[in-house]
Amino acid sequence: MKILGLCGSLRSGSLNAAVLRSAAELTLPPRELAVDPGLDRLPFFDADVEQTALPAVVAGLRAAVGAADALLIVTPEYAHGTSGVLKNALEWLVGGGEIAGKPVALASASPAITGGDRARAWLAETLAAMDARVIPRELRIPQATLRITDGRVTDEPTRAALAGLLDALAHAAEAREDRGSLAS
Ligand code: FNR
Repeated sequence: MKILGLCGSLRSGSLNAAVLRSAAELTLPPRELAVDPGLDRLPFFDADVEQTALPAVVAGLRAAVGAADALLIVTPEYAHGTSGVLKNALEWLVGGGEIAGKPVALASASPAITGGDRARAWLAETLAAMDARVIPRELRIPQATLRITDGRVTDEPTRAALAGLLDALAHAAEAREDRGSLAS
């Protein structure tokens, strides 16, 4: 069970990167969670470049998504939306089609009491347009500076909710595999 984690914040002290770090630590064999470190190296999406000379970093991202059984996407909220970093990555993924049908879990952390709700809603709409299967369970972390310290989720109820999200994502991926093996 391979889960690919994508984080929409490039900030070194990112609360959302901390969520992904804790998610990786909570993921035990036979599950594994790898974090894609390449989003900061993606050029801005350009359909001409996509047609003529696909950058290696884009091909790498598409391959990583294609090889994953499921995705965990953590997003900051900027101006009531997701980050440009994530939107740009998703634009590169549209043409590849690797995300279609793939289970995706969404999480967001924000210092605000709204917990990044608008960013997740925005992201869910984009992912639905890409035919990704966003699972109904999500994780919102409001007042995240109180629940995340030293780069880790330290608030116990939030850690438990993160573990629950990972379980729900893994179950969605297993159900998809079961459907695939029944069909073949
Ligand atoms: C923000 N922030 C923010 N928060 C929020 O809940 N709703 C919002 O619309 C915004 N808008 C926004 C715009 C800009 C330009 C900045 C710099 C910040 C606050 C944001 O959630 C906070 O900085 C988080 O800590 C960013 O996520 P990371 O980097 O900690 O993962």
